Amino acid sequence: MDLYQVLQGRRSIRKYKPDPVPAETLAKILDAARIAPSWKNLQCWKFIVVQDPARKERLAESLPPTNPALKAIREQAPVVIALCADPEQSGVQDGKEYYLLDAGLAMQQLMLAAYAEGLGTCWVCLFDEAKAKAVLQVPDRYRVVGLTPLGVPERQPSPRPRLELKEIVFAEVWGRPYEQ
Ligand SMILES: Cc1cc2nc3c(=O)[nH]c(=O)nc-3n(C[C@H](O)[C@H](O)[C@H](O)COP(=O)(O)O)c2cc1C
Repeated sequence: MDLYQVLQGRRSIRKYKPDPVPAETLAKILDAARIAPSWKNLQCWKFIVVQDPARKERLAESLPPTNPALKAIREQAPVVIALCADPEQSGVQDGKEYYLLDAGLAMQQLMLAAYAEGLGTCWVCLFDEAKAKAVLQVPDRYRVVGLTPLGVPERQPSPRPRLELKEIVFAEVWGRPYEQ
């Protein structure tokens, strides 16, 4: 699969088969996150791999019942990965906190690698961080930026709509249409 096929094919997966994720595949996917770019290469991230069903269940209690990824986290996906980041170990410029960008880049690399390996993921950010921190025993200085289930997708969902390029790309200055 080439890079564009991966970019086009990745979907948020919320239904999983019970099949396990081989340890070597998991290591490859985590390594894709490890090599992500970051502010001053400070690599403010940590990843917690959760495979214990009881802990996944407790972690799922941090999600509101309305979160569409709840079942995936609680019982379907064999693996859940928690993305943690230390804001002090990244930069702030003009009020922009780059730890979120650093962490997001690493997670996205993980997700694209997972897709290339035939696995599904889903960003999950709608959860009670304090509850998640307690379940995962995360130190105070770290933020839990997001979670993802990881496993074999039950099916490949159809693509969600996206804005057209003409709606999001300008030429030279704000508002001038970009002609392709
Ligand atoms: C920062 C962020 C937070 C998200 N949080 C959740 C979430 O809590 N629960 C969920 O089911 N999906 C969540 N999503 C997934 C989005 O709904 C999804 O990416 C979007 O609808 C586009 O669909 P696609 O990923 O299949 O292309 C989140 C995505 C991002 C980028």
